[in-house]
Amino acid sequence: MKKHKDHQNKTSKLWGGRFTEPTEAFVQRFTASVTFDQRLYQYDIDGSIAHAKMLAKVKVLTEDELTQIVNGLEIIRSEISRGEFKWSIELEDVHMNIESALTNKIGEVGKKLHTGRSRNDQVATDIRLFVRDEIDQICEILTKVQSALVAFAEREAATIFPGFTHLQTAQPVSFGHHMLAWFEMLGRDYDRLADCRKRVNLSPLGSAALAGTTYPIDREYTAELLGFYSPTNNSLDSVSDRDFVIEFAATASLLMTHLSRFSEELVLWTSLQFNFIDLPDRFCTGSSIMPQKKNPDVPELIRGKSGRVVGHLVSLLNLMKSQPLAYNKDNQEDKESLFDLIDTVKDCLFAYSEMIPAIRCNKEAMEEAASKGFATATDLADYLVKKGLPFRDAHEVVGKSVSYAIEQQADLSDLSLEQLSQFSDLIDADVFDVLTLAGSLKARNHKGGTAPEQVLQAVTEAKATLANRSGFKNGPVGSFSA
Ligand code: ARG
Repeated sequence: MKKHKDHQNKTSKLWGGRFTEPTEAFVQRFTASVTFDQRLYQYDIDGSIAHAKMLAKVKVLTEDELTQIVNGLEIIRSEISRGEFKWSIELEDVHMNIESALTNKIGEVGKKLHTGRSRNDQVATDIRLFVRDEIDQICEILTKVQSALVAFAEREAATIFPGFTHLQTAQPVSFGHHMLAWFEMLGRDYDRLADCRKRVNLSPLGSAALAGTTYPIDREYTAELLGFYSPTNNSLDSVSDRDFVIEFAATASLLMTHLSRFSEELVLWTSLQFNFIDLPDRFCTGSSIMPQKKNPDVPELIRGKSGRVVGHLVSLLNLMKSQPLAYNKDNQEDKESLFDLIDTVKDCLFAYSEMIPAIRCNKEAMEEAASKGFATATDLADYLVKKGLPFRDAHEVVGKSVSYAIEQQADLSDLSLEQLSQFSDLIDADVFDVLTLAGSLKARNHKGGTAPEQVLQAVTEAKATLANRSGFKNGPVGSFSA
């Protein structure tokens, strides 16, 4: 009789023992997270299996109980993956839905699974496993985007492109060099993700609600089973820490900021006024009213979506701000931001991995644009310096030459030797070598410079960097051995 009474409560909740009335329907809906946190089910089941194995190892569960629990959880996993699992809002979240289904399936033994743990360390474990996996996937797509950039840079190493500062023609550059600038930015994003992963890859399991547990648990064992580098150090911190989510969101925001800059350039370059590149029709859409329009919607949307990801970072920072230790329900709000930002980043990177190989350069338009705007004026100044004139005086001479050329409606290279030499008698016939665009590129022949020879060297180094990426090992926090 007593046994029967013990597990009766008025609310049918797993935590209902001390409650005397059922939850308000609104409160039930308002506090539930299962509509979105069910996305974590694989990680929740992995975490539960590791926990149960550990409980059996330390003799809190028998081997037979462990077998029943693991089999039950695996059946639930396959039901969920086939879409046959009935999620219930009354059971609040992914954790209690699965635990309750387990008890329904295997009976009383299912109730032993939650021994020595809490949803607080459980959810922290799930999110860490999830973010670790997503970082790996994002790094894979990021590597594809970078490979596409390297191939593009190699093809266009000698293609002349107008380099801009202040969006005004500045100096000619190799278009391949420009593409490798994107490679560098994304490479830093990759390194930041790899570093962030080290702080993600620690096991909070065993911290229980906040203070640890009275059972003789083996936290090293669960950490090892789940592929974590080690257990976390402090139980209070472990259940409340979402720094790793915020750090990941910050890294993703910077990555999206880079993609937004890239997108802005693509949008400009496809416009008729620039006409530097062509994006194939399959990446563009039309206008419902203007029949002639071909709009670069994909880069435009990526530019827009960067704001959305940065918004999630700001949400997450504000979510953590001023929270007292340890776990607070506020943290349930981390998931929708996290999920949406991951989906957004992956879609945008995927779009880039497909789009980059399809971009076609309009080399004539690029070169024509580079030949306007006195892009080789610095080269003329450098020429005079090499002939003995101090740089400031050379700057003055070239300034006057440019002003004269503007009057003549000509470029510097269009002026005759007589016209040019009126500004300095150091100017000889060999000046025309430095006034050409190709000559200007070729002259910047040092590491990091735009000479095609250097661009090809950088391509070789970039390929080696990508070839050395062999996935992550579980390196210690703070090391770069991964
Ligand atoms: N759904 C909760 C979350 O996402 C799980 C942890 C709930 N813990 C608790 N003590 N209410 O944070």
